[in-house]
Amino acid sequence: TVVILDFGSQFTQLIARRVREAGVYSEIHPCTTPVDKLRELAPRALILSGGPSSVIEPGAPTLDMGIFDLDLPILGICYGMQLLSHLLPGGRVVSSTDREYGRSEFTVAAASPLFDGLPTDRGLTVWMSHGDRVKSPPEGFSVLGSTPTVDVAAMADPARRIYALQFHPEVAHTEDGSLILHNFLFKIAGLTPGWSMSSFVASQDAALREQIGDRHVVCALSGGVDSTVVAVMLHKAIGKQLHCIFVDNGLLRLNEGEEVAAYLREHFDLNLIHVKAADLFLSLLAGVTDPEEKRKIIGRTFIEVFEREAKKLPGVEFLAQGTLYPDVIESVSFRGPSAVIKSHHNVGGLPDIMKLSLVEPLRELFKDEVRKVAVELGLPDFIIWRHPFPGPGLAIRIIGEVTPKRLDILRRADKIVQAELQASDWYRKVWQGFAVLLPLKTVGVMGDDRTYESVCAVRVVDSIDAMTADWSRVPTEILATISNRIINEVKGINRVVLDISSKPPSTIEWE
Ligand code: XMP
Repeated sequence: TVVILDFGSQFTQLIARRVREAGVYSEIHPCTTPVDKLRELAPRALILSGGPSSVIEPGAPTLDMGIFDLDLPILGICYGMQLLSHLLPGGRVVSSTDREYGRSEFTVAAASPLFDGLPTDRGLTVWMSHGDRVKSPPEGFSVLGSTPTVDVAAMADPARRIYALQFHPEVAHTEDGSLILHNFLFKIAGLTPGWSMSSFVASQDAALREQIGDRHVVCALSGGVDSTVVAVMLHKAIGKQLHCIFVDNGLLRLNEGEEVAAYLREHFDLNLIHVKAADLFLSLLAGVTDPEEKRKIIGRTFIEVFEREAKKLPGVEFLAQGTLYPDVIESVSFRGPSAVIKSHHNVGGLPDIMKLSLVEPLRELFKDEVRKVAVELGLPDFIIWRHPFPGPGLAIRIIGEVTPKRLDILRRADKIVQAELQASDWYRKVWQGFAVLLPLKTVGVMGDDRTYESVCAVRVVDSIDAMTADWSRVPTEILATISNRIINEVKGINRVVLDISSKPPSTIEWE
């Protein structure tokens, strides 16, 4: 294991993913983790992340000094590098009022195993994001490279195996960033790659059998890749001791749900309870227009329906959930508590009223790793690459009241967006693409007649983790086809607009 100590950088998760891509298991822990806890984790190397603070400020996040006695290889990145200079004798950090953000050119100044294989005859494009910089490295350290604005852009004390970089090797814009991380892991820390999704599947299978024994497990299937992977892993491990409940809330996409249910029935012979609860959900949503109110009603009703069904199953002792690693990382925020923007409810978020123990086989994984597990399990592309879909479903993509008629209109428009993205292979390039039905009517003309009908917005975004997103630059011909088809084929819509906002300041969904 490599432990990444988090100082609050937006890139911390990216470091963990890069290390895992190299075949080495990594975990993120808060920078406040005491040395005793670290000793228990028994890591083979430490990486100190970047962070938004300045080491010079009073109260800035720091490290348990005992960490240096563990004799572990350490890589400090950005804030991590500044902190090393600040804490170790002889180092000096200066602050600057200008933040440097973006590309820079790094020149290697001294040979080091960290830079093995990098071009030496030219500079390297690297990604910077910092205010402070190291003025002089601590005793025992030498300077390994610089950029036009930063004299000490890389430093090392090879005897103690402590290395540090001012730029971000984990960011894709840094040329050969992965190679630098590989050098740290393999040449400096002496690790060997062993973490892969096939090893993960094998070890989880054994762990699930061990944890569950001959007892029974219930899980909620949503049709998404996470819950499907959970169900299939459990099915492989415990067979008929697994009971899946699929709640059709009437807010799903056209035929979604049925497709997944049919696939699972056919290929895995699962115990699958398909609860058709559309009428209940729709009657409770009647007249409701407030987004948070919609979310609460849907979340609460889902839990009620799920519980009612689960209680009918005798002797169930476990609840399986598709919790992912980003949900369990203890996040450190040095910018103060963040406001609740949307009260997301996931199929995973069931309360503990049922007194069931949790089974969370994906707790250690990032989303892209879950997709790799799905490949490993032999699941089909239509499940593996399915775009994320919110728990409240189409209800939060119908601005205003959710009615059967408006649901039908949106479903048909959305189906066209899905189909055209898939036909052009943009479906896999983007994070999410969908249609939104607006509570707005405009005038149009069809044949010789005047129409007065709804507006539909098309939203397609690129993202790596849904925390930030940008609107996808889908080719205009594809957009033209989507627009033509929706207006011609979906009665009730006579105008299509494109959402060109990024997150932040907008969000991905409209509600
Ligand atoms: P936003 O709109 O917050 O969406 O930018 C970020 C990601 O989360 C999904 N989303 C939800 N997922 N319950 C969910 O399970 C919700 O209430 C919910 N709201 C948004 C959204 O589709 C995007 O992927």
